[in-house]
Amino acid sequence: MTKKRGESRSPYLEWAKLKSQATFNLATSGLDGYPLAKLPVKIEDLEISVAGSYGYPPLQERLARRSRVEPECVVAANGTSMANHLAMAALIEPGDEVLIEQPTYEPLVTAAEYFGARIRRFPRRIENGFQIDLQELKRTITPATRLVILSNLHNPTGARISDVDLRQIGELADVRGAHVLVDEVYLEALFDPQARSAFHLGPNFVITSSLTKAFGLSGLRCGWILAPAHVAERMWKLNDLFGVIPAHVAELLSVIALDHLAEISEYARKRLETNRPLVQRFLGSRKDLSAIPFAAGTVTFPKLLSGRVDDLCRILREKYDTKVVPGSFFEMPDHFRMGIGGKTEMLAEGLRRLGLALDEMA
Ligand SMILES: Cc1ncc(COP(=O)(O)O)c(C=O)c1O
Repeated sequence: MTKKRGESRSPYLEWAKLKSQATFNLATSGLDGYPLAKLPVKIEDLEISVAGSYGYPPLQERLARRSRVEPECVVAANGTSMANHLAMAALIEPGDEVLIEQPTYEPLVTAAEYFGARIRRFPRRIENGFQIDLQELKRTITPATRLVILSNLHNPTGARISDVDLRQIGELADVRGAHVLVDEVYLEALFDPQARSAFHLGPNFVITSSLTKAFGLSGLRCGWILAPAHVAERMWKLNDLFGVIPAHVAELLSVIALDHLAEISEYARKRLETNRPLVQRFLGSRKDLSAIPFAAGTVTFPKLLSGRVDDLCRILREKYDTKVVPGSFFEMPDHFRMGIGGKTEMLAEGLRRLGLALDEMA
């Protein structure tokens, strides 16, 4: 029986909002909140309303400059979440064939279902470093495919797809008249000005991102889509049905944040560079876990080699006040996802507790 559109729901987001909290929270996927007090903002810099338009020009200009695209190719959105929703609303017609990576961030699949897509999946496997097998994708894609959806860096594993592979994925889709939607919200966490968006790799790429994960600026909801200008135009018009205009205070704060992104990046980069070796050492010390090398980004996705992740999560919750994300939310129940964006002392103690819980399972 097909689900009614009005009954769509995201099990992962329900869990994240209601059940993921703990003193030792290794379940978050981005940097924890950047303090407002650190932004050089005065009350006189803020205003409640401005004449409505298709994008606030100072913000449009900064987002375009940052992504090295024309402002006509940028659609501002309420976080990557609304960016994904708008992008799919513009690109999917009911019954369209849509290919989505597996594992993936569940709301990508749920949103595509909501838009009436016929969903097929292509695997990203641990044996292959969670890369995309291009030969396999070639066999999966059909003339009916309208959209290919993936994340880079990959959620949940943090794997990075090379530009060479992305370009080939773009070409495979393009010959069938399909777009490729790349959710790049974690790519920001490379803090590498040379790391270009996949938007530049072919005419059929549509990109979504935000300041949420890498910079701890989730509350600004500063998200965006990069799309060919005629597709971007469709998304702006659809947004008139969804959000019309954003909160102007958030737009002004986003402009200030973008003007100070170098300092914010430095803060975030230092946090991740301090925390990542702690997790690398922890993973290296555990014979009961297997993970791909954790070289970049904010999350890692170890496999539990014996025992059940559900039991591990129960012990962590009941005895150690610690949370990780069960892999079942990513259709891989023998894995779990850990994030490294929290305060260093919290992360270190959370890892110690995770080690104790794993020892109890042995
Ligand atoms: C792949 C991916 N896309 C989008 C989002 C949502 O991002 P935002 O908070 O910018 O809406 C998340 C959050 O976890 C995510 O992991």
